[in-house]
Amino acid sequence: MGPQGTRPHLGGVSETALWTLYMRAHEARRPDRLIEDPKAIELVAALDYPFLERFGLDEQDIAEGEALRTRVFDDEVRRFLRGDPEGTVVTLGGGLETQFWRADNGRARWISVDLPEVVGLRRRLLPESPRQRLVACSVLDDRWMDEVDLTRGVLMTVKGLFQYFQPAEVHRLVAACAERFPGAVMVFEAPARWLSTRMRQGRVRTPAGTAPPPTYWGMDPREARRIRGAHPNIVEWTDLPLPPGRGRVYGRQLPWIARTPVVRNWKPVWITRLRFGDDPSGGSPGHTRHEPRVRPADR
Ligand SMILES: C[S@@+](CC[C@H](N)C(=O)[O-])C[C@H]1O[C@@H](n2cnc3c(N)ncnc32)[C@H](O)[C@@H]1O
Repeated sequence: MGPQGTRPHLGGVSETALWTLYMRAHEARRPDRLIEDPKAIELVAALDYPFLERFGLDEQDIAEGEALRTRVFDDEVRRFLRGDPEGTVVTLGGGLETQFWRADNGRARWISVDLPEVVGLRRRLLPESPRQRLVACSVLDDRWMDEVDLTRGVLMTVKGLFQYFQPAEVHRLVAACAERFPGAVMVFEAPARWLSTRMRQGRVRTPAGTAPPPTYWGMDPREARRIRGAHPNIVEWTDLPLPPGRGRVYGRQLPWIARTPVVRNWKPVWITRLRFGDDPSGGSPGHTRHEPRVRPADR
């Protein structure tokens, strides 16, 4: 974009907020787009940042994948707001996500939590409004939880974040949310563990040849069991499939992987909905762990 725009000063993991924004905007400009996101297009145009040099684009897959993951999250938000129109959507690691403009119902509350440098940029581009609040702190610091109104229903969304944490940090955060937000829902995304390992080893590059930040956590069936057992108040676990895309990878390969027994344990991206029960002790005074009810994808 032009040199008159806002110049972001983000590095490391914070810079990835620009990556997802750019991919959504790129996809939303296509005539055969898989998402509508005019606000993302507007933001990219408002930023003085060398998107193409930093991230590049492969016309086939990257933006398409981002759009499909975004659609799963948007569908989950709409579904939650249909059941609880005045509920709160809490986006952990919200970055420059423009979901409010895609999925808001005119009544919900929205909270976005991110690191101070990202929230500072977001405040300049997308200021707070009566129904949208920004919280500048690490999600690993439980202070953000005090900002959530527990008298309303709560949906927490976590897209593109957990992989930058250590496994113990992910487990602790999920358990803390299960304890603190009875009745809430959390939808989180994770790369497969094998993919996360490749990224950590520097074996994955952007199409521009730059290295994404290292990732420390990812999913596989064993890790899925660990997350389910992270807290007794995790009472339901649902695996959410990606909708089919248009290209070879997202249109054919990944749908095949998703429906093929055993092979699907190696799918590159996992999106999961956790439901927390109403009783943070899980019905057991000593917080004895119990197996939550596991449901297959219900959509
Ligand atoms: C890949 S971006 C995803 C942004 C947004 N969820 C989206 O999908 O467009 C990762 C985001 O997580 C944020 N992040 C990383 N570590 C964080 C932490 N400890 N606490 C809060 N946010 C964090 C980054 O600043 C960045 O905005």
